[in-house]
Amino acid sequence: MRTFFHANDLGDLGQALQEARQVKADRYAYQHLGKNKTLLMIFFNNSLRTRLSTQKAAMNLGMNVIVLDVNAGAWKLETERGVIMDGDKSEHLLEAIPVMGSYCDIIAVRSFAGLADREFDYAETIVHQFVEHSGRPVVAMETATVHPLQAFADLITIEEHRQAAVRPKVVLTWAPHCRALPQAVPNSFAEWMNAADVDFVITHPEGYELDPRFVGPARVEYDQCKALEGADFVYAKNWSCPGVTRPADYGQILSKDMSWTIDAEHMSWTNDGHFMHCLPVRRGLIVTDDVIESPRSLVIPEAANREISAQVVLKRVLEAL
Ligand code: CP
Repeated sequence: MRTFFHANDLGDLGQALQEARQVKADRYAYQHLGKNKTLLMIFFNNSLRTRLSTQKAAMNLGMNVIVLDVNAGAWKLETERGVIMDGDKSEHLLEAIPVMGSYCDIIAVRSFAGLADREFDYAETIVHQFVEHSGRPVVAMETATVHPLQAFADLITIEEHRQAAVRPKVVLTWAPHCRALPQAVPNSFAEWMNAADVDFVITHPEGYELDPRFVGPARVEYDQCKALEGADFVYAKNWSCPGVTRPADYGQILSKDMSWTIDAEHMSWTNDGHFMHCLPVRRGLIVTDDVIESPRSLVIPEAANREISAQVVLKRVLEAL
């Protein structure tokens, strides 16, 4: 595997889940794969889970790890071509990328959407430059439009908690937030749920329609109460306007409707459903304290499975080097 952005990069998901179970049962069984191999993790944005889990996964595989926070200690990077670099950006990404590639065997990149220019974000301009110019396999640690390591961990968590022989109902629900957030997590969650064996429903206020390439065959229900009825898993997430119906609204906050916050009443409409969120989460906006602290909340095992999803992905990349 040379790149990891989408569910189909892993091939058969059943096989990938089986591999996740093997890795979880013995995380140190593949240390020979990473010997004398280096992972470079590049962060254009903050992280807690992705940073720690991906580094731990690489160490489980015997790899060396270098972490670069571009905004803390590195030269400020220009990302546009054709500009006169007479501002505060000292280095162009097009030189920095091959230099970074020369120091490692695999590159992992986190680069969020700017939420100002839909075309720039959805073209994945930054990470495609890494793919094109680094000469190394590239793993997405959340890009402008996708967060596949999170979605894979979410799928592993659902598999671990679903009732055997029952096709679970999984609901992705928008919830309010005080800041404009990217669509990467809901995009990937939708993509991965569509690829999995689940009954998948998306619910959000009008105007928050996700890009059709991620919605796929999922059912979209604008009535949150109806959507949550009988749900086995409730995946809450805020996202800003994807600009599908009105491109001018891209990246905007269209609603802060607190009736969408997941509380005990919302969970009472479900089939004793599990609560999920990728974290970090703002309590009181996305979810109430009692729901996130309840025994049906999966947020901690979900975060713990980030180590497993990253390890399966890095293992696949190492095996293909
Ligand atoms: N879920 C997730 O990606 O968390 P971090 O932003 O802390 O990495």
